[in-house]
Amino acid sequence: MGQAEAAAMIPGLVLLWIAVLGGASPSPPRLRLSFQELQQRHGLRTFRLARTCCYEALLVDEERGRLFVGAENHVASLSLDNISKRAKKLAWPAPVEWREECNWAGKDIGTECMNFVKVLHAYNHTHLLACGTGAFHPTCVYVEVGHRLEEPMLRLDLQKLEDGKGKSPYDPRHQAASVLVGEELYSGVAADLMGRDFTIFRSLGQRPSLRTEPHDSRWLNEPKFVKVFWIPESENPDDDKIYFFFRELAVEAAPALGRLSVSRVGQICRNDVGGQRSLVNKWTTFLKARLVCSVPGMEGDTHFNQLQDVFLLSSRDRWTPLLYAIFSTSSGIFRGSAVCVYSMNDVRRAFLGPFAHKEGPMHQWVSYQGRVPYPRPGMCPSKTFGTFSSTKDFPDDVIQFARNHPLMYNSILPVGGRPLFLQVGAGYTFTQIAADRVAAADGHYDVLFIGTDAGTVLKVISVPKGSQPHAEGLLLEELHVFEDSAAVTSMQISSKRHQLYVASRSAVAQIPLHRCAAHGRACAECCLARDPYCAWDGATCTRFQPSAKRRFRRQDIKNGDPRTLCSGDSSHPALLERKVLGVEGGSAFLECEPRSLQAHVEWTFQRAGEAAGTPVLAEERAERTTRGLLLRDLRRGDSGSYLCTAVEQGFSQPLRRLVLHVLSVVQAERLARTEEAAPVAPPGPKLWYRDFLQLVEPGGGGVSSLRMCRPQPAPRPPPPESRRKGRNRRTHAPEPRAERGPRSAAHW
Ligand SMILES: *[C@@H]1O[C@H](CO)[C@@H](O)[C@H](O)[C@H]1NC(C)=O
Ligand SMILES: *[C@@H]1O[C@H](CO)[C@@H](O)[C@H](O)[C@H]1NC(C)=O
Repeated sequence: MGQAEAAAMIPGLVLLWIAVLGGASPSPPRLRLSFQELQQRHGLRTFRLARTCCYEALLVDEERGRLFVGAENHVASLSLDNISKRAKKLAWPAPVEWREECNWAGKDIGTECMNFVKVLHAYNHTHLLACGTGAFHPTCVYVEVGHRLEEPMLRLDLQKLEDGKGKSPYDPRHQAASVLVGEELYSGVAADLMGRDFTIFRSLGQRPSLRTEPHDSRWLNEPKFVKVFWIPESENPDDDKIYFFFRELAVEAAPALGRLSVSRVGQICRNDVGGQRSLVNKWTTFLKARLVCSVPGMEGDTHFNQLQDVFLLSSRDRWTPLLYAIFSTSSGIFRGSAVCVYSMNDVRRAFLGPFAHKEGPMHQWVSYQGRVPYPRPGMCPSKTFGTFSSTKDFPDDVIQFARNHPLMYNSILPVGGRPLFLQVGAGYTFTQIAADRVAAADGHYDVLFIGTDAGTVLKVISVPKGSQPHAEGLLLEELHVFEDSAAVTSMQISSKRHQLYVASRSAVAQIPLHRCAAHGRACAECCLARDPYCAWDGATCTRFQPSAKRRFRRQDIKNGDPRTLCSGDSSHPALLERKVLGVEGGSAFLECEPRSLQAHVEWTFQRAGEAAGTPVLAEERAERTTRGLLLRDLRRGDSGSYLCTAVEQGFSQPLRRLVLHVLSVVQAERLARTEEAAPVAPPGPKLWYRDFLQLVEPGGGGVSSLRMCRPQPAPRPPPPESRRKGRNRRTHAPEPRAERGPRSAAHW
């Protein structure tokens, strides 16, 4: 076994080929909605407690209709329908002695020596389990929430305090990952004050606690735990496994490569009770494999190596859920995040494949070629696969092999072999993910909600691309759900109530999964949006009802092609038309902004009496901005009608017609005098004159514009540069003036 094989374990990990992504620019969302817009028009609700930070633990209880929240020194119970109303809260601070101890240990009394509630699980029919950092003294309590049909209640059961060591982290900066199965808690956490003793730990319940081998870098090497799931494998509960998702330093990397971070999935059997003579009270079924999320390239792969979060999306059976995972890069070269999707069958296949083995004079990691003892390490003692009824009966060679070979040789690749969706250079990193499977007119679609470290939520749909299983992610919405831009720390979805709950350091937000009306007032806009929650009902873009009559639910998620879907649709909103005055030599601003950031705008110019319009092309005198067209150095011949059309995916939609009238300076002055002399001006044009007078006022030079249609919306950040590229393709004056000769053309 040569060096080539050893290197194959981490192919090209260090080489982050920017070339692979081709200097990829971030894709803009189709819609970007601000906090104010969401709050005023789209049902955004927020929750925040006075003088409390760090909302991290969210627990959705559909039956009770409650959202339980863990924060600094508090647990709260909110209504799932409206988190802003009837909140119940209880204080759970750390005792003064613990806070003092914490302070003596050199921690900050005001920011670290508090009880940060990190863990919330539904424990039984009447109680929750809550665990917090307890000022570097982790503790768990049971919280009484009452029976399902009773009036909501929230009470700490201080009779039964549990030691939180191995359940909640000590350090508020650390994340906790755990799952409660029956009465037992499976957690991945640092179980000491210094934050060095990392463990996968089973506690509570009747059986003795079980953990990973301490301080063995082959088992865990400075891991950061992300999520834990209980996933059954068959009808037989003896085959149930618990899966841990984390990132850690790659033990298999050549030392020369330095500290390399890799993402992992680890497995253990639920019925593991440890070994009899060795691995006593330690896992005997622990295995881990590498999760790869990379973009293949000619010269190497671009790796998104830092697992950030995983969402388990249930499928028809309980055994093969889909795993939606988000990753970021640890590269100093570029900032990027990606979504990769994994199938449970691929995860299981890796654990059935070859073991990784360190051998040879160079101590390389290679694929183990020797005899694997029976029963194969990683298999649960069960009637399904063998005759062993407990891990205590496993032969010694099985235990020894398990202790020395926790790592699998094969990595787990994403479905389709590449990320479903990625963003590079977008100025944010993905931190949390939740997914919803939605029934649409042409099939089922997975909708992803991705929280970022900039306090936003991205709504992405997964649509088939070519042949299955290839899919691509489309960015529909960027939602600014918080007033500030604190990172999203936790996210929960209620498919039943069609709501998303998002937590950050500063608040909890609730937002519906869809806001169909925001897509626009035309059939084409609704169709182009490709939002599986929405359909055109003949008059508006509204919530899609699979049961409604076919002709009232026009929707095409797969292609988003309005030509077939919206042809003959007479309910096109009337084209807005407005008049704009300009003065020779001055400027005029023709405002027109499509709702969709993925659309680009085309302008056509038509002089009075002319049959057809000609395209207005970019040049010095006609500058395109995100909000409209700026015409400078106006000439009389620029008078005419300007049509603004949004073009998206090859589909054009006229948005607005602006009729520009350019006056000579003399005409403008006369007009001003007329206005003064005739206080009773004709009703129509009067407004015109007034606005015009303001515009021609001395010193008011610059942009002249008449905004007669609607007040200005709040300024939006300009879309990324890339979107503008390729638009200003040709150059052509708004009014070609051959008679002025080539010199004037140069002047423009
Ligand atoms: C949510 O509750 C708050 C506080 O009671 C109330 O002001 C608001 O109108 C409610 N919103 C909705 C959509 O029910
Ligand atoms: C739930 O667990 C708590 C804490 O152990 C216990 O006090 C309570 O009686 C249990 N409730 C039920 C219904 O089992």
